[in-house]
Amino acid sequence: MNIIDLLSDTLSLPTDEMYASIAEAELGDDGRFTNNQGEDPTVNKLQELAAEKLGKEEGLFLHSGTMGNMLSLLTHAEREDSIIVGEKAHIFTNEKGTFDNNCCGFRPVIVPDHEGYLDPQALERNLNSTKASLVCIENSHNFRGGTVIAPEITNAIVDIAHKHQIPVHLDGARIFNAAVALKTDVKLLVENVDSVMFCLSKGLCAPIGSVVVGSQTFIRKAREKRRIWGGQLRQAGIVAAAGIVALEKMTERLSEDHELTTQLAEGLSPIPVFNINTQKVKTNILKIRLDNSFMSASEFCEKLFHEHKIRIGAVSRNEIRIVVYRGISHEAILEVIERIKNFVDKRKAQR
Ligand SMILES: Cc1ncc(COP(=O)(O)O)c(C=O)c1O
Repeated sequence: MNIIDLLSDTLSLPTDEMYASIAEAELGDDGRFTNNQGEDPTVNKLQELAAEKLGKEEGLFLHSGTMGNMLSLLTHAEREDSIIVGEKAHIFTNEKGTFDNNCCGFRPVIVPDHEGYLDPQALERNLNSTKASLVCIENSHNFRGGTVIAPEITNAIVDIAHKHQIPVHLDGARIFNAAVALKTDVKLLVENVDSVMFCLSKGLCAPIGSVVVGSQTFIRKAREKRRIWGGQLRQAGIVAAAGIVALEKMTERLSEDHELTTQLAEGLSPIPVFNINTQKVKTNILKIRLDNSFMSASEFCEKLFHEHKIRIGAVSRNEIRIVVYRGISHEAILEVIERIKNFVDKRKAQR
């Protein structure tokens, strides 16, 4: 039986065009800074393209999304500062160094984010009672099931923060998924935020890399922080070349992943131990609530892999996350539905 791995879109592989662009990339030392830019022309091209696409002044290439978020926070705020984050934000739940005293040492101020965006009233309350240095938001929202935030909501949240003179950083690891789902120009989703990190290495299929965009002053400061934190790169054009293809050619096809995710949700929703709100599926992430009297989410995922070779992940005691990406075909989705149905039926019959 073949393994079908739906743990994350980080499993997406580079396209042939990416491999070709890597072979031909013009390279230099991105760590050297001359005439206000690094010396790798391919990295510079990617950074300019990213800034242009998102409507910001400058961009900075980094090896990972975590590094991009961390450096953005370190650029906006000082050690021990309070930073407002959603309770399920990736920055808070997964990027442990950010709030670790032995690393960045920020203090999290946690705001509910049930729909994937910060509750505006709770945000206002927290800004009135805490001296925070930054507000972080996420779009699309990973652990809320790939939910998307419409520009009006983002703008309302940013207005609240800016009213208190607090900048806003957007973790836009999958911002292009959000833009495609909302059928809008990505610029409108990030128009008023002060910085954005997005990933080239997830649904966009580049092998490595993320870009942070923002004002020229912000990016110059972030570049310096990147050097201090050991994130400086040399002939990074090798990977930036694939990032250029990702940005130019791979954004629109994300809708294919979204369609397959909806098909998967519709195929799995009749399974009695699942609670799936198919209306909420907007991008390439499906969140399933599992009836805990059946088994825990982690046990479900473990046994499903052991017996049916499907890899999916538990994100809480009773929630499972499935992620679709290029390389997962329509046939694979049908196969996943079939194998999961068989698994549940067999377990139910044994009871
Ligand atoms: C929303 C979000 N932000 C940031 C990251 C971190 O990206 P990376 O794995 O490149 O560090 C991820 C990774 O999955 C993510 O889902």
